[in-house]
Amino acid sequence: MKETIKSYDDVDNWKTVMFLYNAALKEVGTKLDILNDEFQHVHQYNPIEHIKTRIKTPESIVKKLKRNGYETSIENMVRYINDIAGVRLICSFTSDIYRLAEMIGNQSDLKVLSIKDYIKNPKDSGYKSYHMLVSVPIFLSDSVVETKVEIQIRTIAMDFWASLEHKIYYKFEGNAPAYISRDLQECAEMVSALDERMLSLNEAVLSCSREQDK
Ligand code: GTP
Ligand code: MG
Repeated sequence: MKETIKSYDDVDNWKTVMFLYNAALKEVGTKLDILNDEFQHVHQYNPIEHIKTRIKTPESIVKKLKRNGYETSIENMVRYINDIAGVRLICSFTSDIYRLAEMIGNQSDLKVLSIKDYIKNPKDSGYKSYHMLVSVPIFLSDSVVETKVEIQIRTIAMDFWASLEHKIYYKFEGNAPAYISRDLQECAEMVSALDERMLSLNEAVLSCSREQDK
């Protein structure tokens, strides 16, 4: 990097921006690993089943800008595209999702910019997930740059559904035959029912273990 980064206004090349988003992913990824380890240490239990991180490809950044009516520019992408850096947290139980969201919200250096709870308010498609848009400070040699990261938190079952739905959406370019959309919605209901039963089962197991420990 030749130029010094003071803020995004100074950022005039793609590589520098991508460097920042990569740094933000690393920061958030490490924070989540630590939270997970701490939870394991205190409660002998991992709320996170696994973590996936990804950087949006240049093609999909440009496509999304166009779709939303913005010209392709670095300034527009930094301002309007919130999911350039994305982290997906997959949990076993719905209760883990809210536990994690709270732990993330309590990190004093993370700013929560917005929350979308598609578990309490699922999308028409049936999509369920908990989304947090956060910004994380990236400490550079002589400045600090706040960088956005989209965190999606969902159960294994929600993730299973979302990946198939995503595949179908792309296959039919958003115009899937009615019976497929209907089937998907039904599957989404089955996912919710499964998540609820698995949670109750787990709670039953936990209370049995507590009884035994007495
Ligand atoms: P995007 O323009 O799609 O990013 O949506 P948005 O800016 O309105 O944000 P939203 O929180 O609705 O969605 C962000 C991300 O959630 C998407 O990029 C997808 O990864 C995921 N997502 C949202 N809706 C759906 C859905 O119906 N199906 C699937 N499979 N994923 C979804
Ligand atoms: Mg997206």
